[in-house]
Amino acid sequence: MKLSSKDFLGLENVSAEEISYILETAKEMKKTVKSSMKKVNYLQGRSVVTLFYENSTRTRVSFELAAKYMGAQAVNVSVASSSVAKGETLIDTGRTLEAMGTDIVIIRHPQAGAPHLLAKNISASVINAGDGMHEHPTQALLDMMTIMEAFGTLSGLKVVIIGDIYHSRVARSNIIGLTKMGAQVNLFAPSTLLPTGIEKLGAKVFTNIYDAVADCDVVMGLRIQLERQKKCLFPSINEYARFFGINPENIRGAKKNALWMHPGPVNRGVEMTSVIIDADNSVINKQVTNGVAVRMALLYLLTGRE
Ligand code: CP
Repeated sequence: MKLSSKDFLGLENVSAEEISYILETAKEMKKTVKSSMKKVNYLQGRSVVTLFYENSTRTRVSFELAAKYMGAQAVNVSVASSSVAKGETLIDTGRTLEAMGTDIVIIRHPQAGAPHLLAKNISASVINAGDGMHEHPTQALLDMMTIMEAFGTLSGLKVVIIGDIYHSRVARSNIIGLTKMGAQVNLFAPSTLLPTGIEKLGAKVFTNIYDAVADCDVVMGLRIQLERQKKCLFPSINEYARFFGINPENIRGAKKNALWMHPGPVNRGVEMTSVIIDADNSVINKQVTNGVAVRMALLYLLTGRE
């Protein structure tokens, strides 16, 4: 099977079959991530550039490691010290990278749609590493991989996503991906952090945390994205932590073997208490490991299309 597009811009236009194929490939790639010899040559002779207009630890480093583990040349463009700071447009930057022989550009950008614009204007593959409040498709892939490792399937599972859903590209990609794969997605958030019409993506909105969490297999927290809030959308951090934070009392109705997840970075004690983050049910570090595996899979499958 070959991926249908040269780019990977979001889960909206990716079929359930393609998602399964990427996750199966990632399972194989994880063997390399976990081995003491992290070197395969699937990407030998290829070059990969990460172009991040927003901060990142997990996504940028895992893409870079994924490329390097597979033998590619991997370069990071530091936007602040690049010609972007002199006024170069996104398209010109992309064409400049392509002129140097770049095969894949991985972009994170504060504007929704920036990766799509780039993809239309260069022939290299473009991967969306997070565009504004739109999508973060590789995060959803690694989340789905982590859930599948625990339960063997996504179909029929109940996943609750709690927190700043309004600003969250992670929530959006997960709702699209998980519902496509047959999971039920519940949402709980302060009303000011819940986009109107989000149910149209197939999720169920709850106004009570206990109902939202009841019998769930997965409890997923989200970071409060203060950098995207133009005004304060909840009374105080303390109140947020009490009523919308994930703590043992708020999620007591979830299944006993439920997974506790967070895309990171976590604001400890705000979105989740340390008791939850550091508990046996927490798979936050597994999510990070699986991030390298799914990104290896994606780089491999995109370069294997020709
Ligand atoms: N989850 C995630 O995207 O983390 P980073 O911002 O560190 O890449």
